[in-house]
Amino acid sequence: MNICVIGTGYVGLVAGTCFAESGNDVTCVDINEEKIRRLSSGEIPIYEPGLEELVRRNLEEGRLRFDTNLEKAVKESFLIFIAVGTPADKDNSADVKSVLEVASEIGKAMNGYKIVILKSTVPVGTAEKVREVISNATNHKYDVISNPEFLKEGAAVEDFMRPDRVIIGGNEEKATKIIEELYSPFLRTGKPIIIMDNRSAELTKYAANAMLATRISFINELANLCEQVGADIGSVRAGLSSDSRIGTQFLFPGAGYGGSCFPKDLQALIQTAAERGIELKILPAVEEVNRQQKMKLAEKINRHFQGGIAGKVFAVWGLSFKPRTDDMREAPSIVIINELLDKGARVKAHDPEAIEEAKKIFGDKIEYYKTPYDALAGADALVLITEWAEFRRPNFERIRELLKKPVIFDGRNIYDPKRMKEMGYEYYSIGR
Ligand SMILES: NC(=O)c1ccc[n+]([C@@H]2O[C@H](COP(=O)([O-])OP(=O)(O)OC[C@H]3O[C@@H](n4cnc5c(N)ncnc54)[C@H](O)[C@@H]3O)[C@@H](O)[C@H]2O)c1
Repeated sequence: MNICVIGTGYVGLVAGTCFAESGNDVTCVDINEEKIRRLSSGEIPIYEPGLEELVRRNLEEGRLRFDTNLEKAVKESFLIFIAVGTPADKDNSADVKSVLEVASEIGKAMNGYKIVILKSTVPVGTAEKVREVISNATNHKYDVISNPEFLKEGAAVEDFMRPDRVIIGGNEEKATKIIEELYSPFLRTGKPIIIMDNRSAELTKYAANAMLATRISFINELANLCEQVGADIGSVRAGLSSDSRIGTQFLFPGAGYGGSCFPKDLQALIQTAAERGIELKILPAVEEVNRQQKMKLAEKINRHFQGGIAGKVFAVWGLSFKPRTDDMREAPSIVIINELLDKGARVKAHDPEAIEEAKKIFGDKIEYYKTPYDALAGADALVLITEWAEFRRPNFERIRELLKKPVIFDGRNIYDPKRMKEMGYEYYSIGR
């Protein structure tokens, strides 16, 4: 099938590439000319494991193209995916301006029946708005399908190729059947395609993110309680998550959630309810717990140094909002580093992939190092914020030699407190 994907970010690029990989002819469109130029030469503007190889192969084999010309791509395509960003607006609702602009351009470019598929995360009712905008611009027939995306950055290709489920929202059986067929190569493991109406599909995406964020804030709140009552969150977590009704996923205490989705999607859902006069009770609490959680590590650092952080040097390991991505959006590291800088500290940072993104945020306010050990030299403590795999079994002897004193603040509980004590470290983690 001829497909165009409009918006070539984390979601659009992965979706477009994976559709090409399953044999479709795909054009990825973006307004960012530099991005399209780089992608056309096989250069990937983001870090996502496995993606570069797939992009290159599909480019070489002629199934994948990159273009800034939306009109041409729409005219040549039967399926048109909208995957542009939907950032938080001033009132915290989702800003669907780009989605509606793109819908209008699609309408103007229509030259026959097409299916427009909303992949961006959009508030309930957006598919209807998209239908209206397109119908204002064309007399051609079309259908609008809601197909929210559930991939995780850091495992996006794997998630897209082997999704837990695919949600298809629409009111025309013929169109939903075509999208079902498109996804069938990715669902050979027997995972379901769930068909529903547009509004339910739109809400399902927000519900999933809200549930996951709730689990994170829940375990973080329990971790803080553990510290006060002398319990160990590691043990509590093990006991709790072995209950098959509860499960292990998204119950890891840490420095708070970040990223381009949870914070903005929770706010957007709260706003969706508020617009209808409904005050959600749980989600504002989830957000507040998370806001406070991002401060916990900085508070521990402050207590350890008895308020005397000015002039101290901190090695920071991990800047991206989670491992295996270069995405810095809403990363806990931003809050923690800013807190240290505000108090007059010096920060020497290392991240395996996010340094270029971090430079856009911190500029020359912090120092950047290629290896984790380079960042440690002469630091008063190590602050671990993102649990990249390479930080899990470091050379503790070397760390001790490089630090002024053996002090580690671990925002992800990746080391064993008992072992750290045996090795002579002053070790702080979350809820233990
Ligand atoms: N990132 C994730 O993990 C993830 C997961 C699931 C869903 N989503 C949702 O998917 C959507 C896209 O997210 P993302 O992280 O890929 O965003 P992104 O910011 O990485 O990419 C969006 C892209 O859209 C382009 N764009 C904006 N306006 C455009 C226009 N008018 N025409 C063409 N291109 C345009 C931008 O230049 C950018 O390249 C959002 O709604 C997001 O909530 C994201």
